[in-house]
Amino acid sequence: MAGLKEISWERFSKLPAAEKRPYLERQDGDGMPYHTLFAQQFDRALLERLCALANRIRFINKSKEGALYLKGVLAHKRAMLYFSQPSSRTFLSHLAACQILGITTGSVRDAATSSEFKGESREDSIRTFSSYFDMIIMRSPEQGLADKMAWELSNGDRPVPILNAGSGKDQHPTQALLDVYTLVRSFESKGGVDGRTVTFCGDLLRGRTVRSLSYLLTTFRDVKQIFVAPPELQVPEDVVAILKGKGVRYEISDDLRAAVRASDAVYMTRIQDEWDAAKGESSKIDTSRFKFGADELAILKPDAVIMHPLPRRDEISTCCDNDPRAMYWRQMRNGMWIRAALIASVFGFEREIMDCGY
Ligand code: NCD
Repeated sequence: MAGLKEISWERFSKLPAAEKRPYLERQDGDGMPYHTLFAQQFDRALLERLCALANRIRFINKSKEGALYLKGVLAHKRAMLYFSQPSSRTFLSHLAACQILGITTGSVRDAATSSEFKGESREDSIRTFSSYFDMIIMRSPEQGLADKMAWELSNGDRPVPILNAGSGKDQHPTQALLDVYTLVRSFESKGGVDGRTVTFCGDLLRGRTVRSLSYLLTTFRDVKQIFVAPPELQVPEDVVAILKGKGVRYEISDDLRAAVRASDAVYMTRIQDEWDAAKGESSKIDTSRFKFGADELAILKPDAVIMHPLPRRDEISTCCDNDPRAMYWRQMRNGMWIRAALIASVFGFEREIMDCGY
């Protein structure tokens, strides 16, 4: 097994994502990630294993005895939640996932309360966390920082796994895992996810959840992807290149209604205006045709689902909230279970939990 100790940063950083994967795996050969940095680390088999483990943890946690067993699994581990960008769900669901597994946690959510405020670099901060914790769950506005830290820590004297909870405009792998878990559960008794059509709508240019989920969907058989956005916010070329390379069916569109009619899942996203080069730039874009409301609900297939990574603004009308096809609230809770599954797997406890007597 090649680890990050076996390769220079210069070489590693230039590899395409798929070729980086083996360097990020656990060293015992079970295929699970040690560092979780991007969606390309997951294939269909791994996704199935993680969904099965999430279901198992969910079930075990229902009884007090089971919950107490789970709390013992990683009671010897500590995790640092280092979020230097705003977060509600991703922070809380990782925290709850750690709590389910008995992991003790620490957190920094605002650089103003850490030594970064005194001028310490993010690199030095993360090195500091690795002295006290056994895993670093991090969100950063800086694309590539999680990768760099994974390499640095693996080559330092206290290697600890990094879990990317959102890196700039680039990737959000654990969000994509919970999105896939939600799709798998939604279509479990209806023939599965293969062959489905998924529409992404909103800010597809700067939404990192879109890039990560679009990739994970390519691991399913014959899933068509439709990208609906104003031209200024359409899906970036690197995402399209992956789909072309894998021969995945896709469509670029600005017609939400037509896409909704054809879709089994509609994945809405908010305008990511925090990335505007000039303040207020996004507000000049006409986004009025990229919102899901009563009219879209009326033409949505009876078995289809509406998804959103949240937070939402007005891109899904609240009139959809109690429709059985609105899956965005369930997505949040699914996030806690799939993150618990991932964290347990990173530490090598997949088999033990799957085989436990609860
Ligand atoms: C997303 C993010 O941070 O990328 N939120 C999340 O993690 N659930 C999407 C967003 O902020 O729009």
